[in-house]
Amino acid sequence: MLNDAVAELSDYPFPRLAALLKDVAPAPGLAPIDLSMGEPKEGLPAFTRPLIDAAFAEFGRYPPVAGPPELRHAIARWLTRRYRLAAGTIDPDRHVAPLAGTREGLFMLPLAVVPRARNGAKPLVLMPNPFYQVYKGGAVTAGAELVYLPATAATGFLPDLAAIPPAVLARTALFYLCSPSNPQGAVADAAYLRAAIALARTYDFTLAVDECYAEIYDEAPPPGGLEVAAATGSLGNIVVFHSLSKRSSAPGLRSGFIAGDPEVLRVLKNLRNYSAAGTPIPICAAATALWSEETHVEANRDRYRAKFAAAARVIGNRFGFRRPAGGFFLWLEVDDGESVARTLWGKAAVKVLPGTYLGHAPTGDDNPGDGYIRLALVHDADTVGEAMRRIAATL
Ligand SMILES: Cc1ncc(COP(=O)(O)O)c(C=O)c1O
Repeated sequence: MLNDAVAELSDYPFPRLAALLKDVAPAPGLAPIDLSMGEPKEGLPAFTRPLIDAAFAEFGRYPPVAGPPELRHAIARWLTRRYRLAAGTIDPDRHVAPLAGTREGLFMLPLAVVPRARNGAKPLVLMPNPFYQVYKGGAVTAGAELVYLPATAATGFLPDLAAIPPAVLARTALFYLCSPSNPQGAVADAAYLRAAIALARTYDFTLAVDECYAEIYDEAPPPGGLEVAAATGSLGNIVVFHSLSKRSSAPGLRSGFIAGDPEVLRVLKNLRNYSAAGTPIPICAAATALWSEETHVEANRDRYRAKFAAAARVIGNRFGFRRPAGGFFLWLEVDDGESVARTLWGKAAVKVLPGTYLGHAPTGDDNPGDGYIRLALVHDADTVGEAMRRIAATL
């Protein structure tokens, strides 16, 4: 006997990609370049190493699931600086919960906020389409019905809030937004966030803004959900997610946080006491330092600028090239993403992700990821330039 609800989940994008490429050998004589996964390759800032060493003995203790107070305070200070919040807006005990990477919190959030029924019907979880697949995993597991909101070129790559029917909003328990968005790199401006928060409050659902890529941007820092909510005098009905994986090129640290509505945080924290792995204390010491230091983040942003410039030089205006406002992905237009992924692996030894694997087709053939490939610019600028030259020569 298995849970038929989770049988609804297709295979995760990376096993799907492995199956797609199973019978394709990478082009001989070329060093393979993997652009399929959003895993920064810069390595952890060196200043974290002595902090982990100094706390080494703490690996011998169970870490607190709520994280050590030093980490929660460092996160509250970072939020206050980054989003110019008034002192005291963020209470490290009530408004912040460290996570073992944001993925686990994004998955678990629906279990905390989706009720059994919503206004007499099955509750809905809204998400952009295409989207980070973990949203779907959490929503399906919580027994919700999923509503996929097109986030296409026609909608500025974010869901069109005005197009959501009131009958849908009345049944909504949770709405995931992603800004800067994965995969398209679109940034929700303050007016957009204000409108989304207003909907969450009018219809009393939770708005979850996944801001994992908030620190990877070209020009202006993307506005944040808490910044906009705080200006209304309340953090009610909103939570935001942030991660060290992208900001600090530390995906292996598994460290992020959720912040916002204290009621949601209270329930989620209780749930995590039952389910979650607390982050090891030496890792929390490194995380505390990383939220307290900006030089390495600025250097990171400069590196991404150089990578996008290298890509722009080679790709020019082909494949619908756009330098995204945020994040580190290129979302390129092609005829058939799966077939292009096979060609690029076989002929150029470059691994890319078909957009199809990041989207959903509500009626079977309307997956908005079809006709796209996603490229993660996670290698150094020279390698990115080399990958782009191979792609341009092959397609
Ligand atoms: C949009 C988005 N959210 C969340 C995550 C999870 O990041 P982590 O669990 O490393 O914090 C990712 C990782 O790729 C992502 O792309």
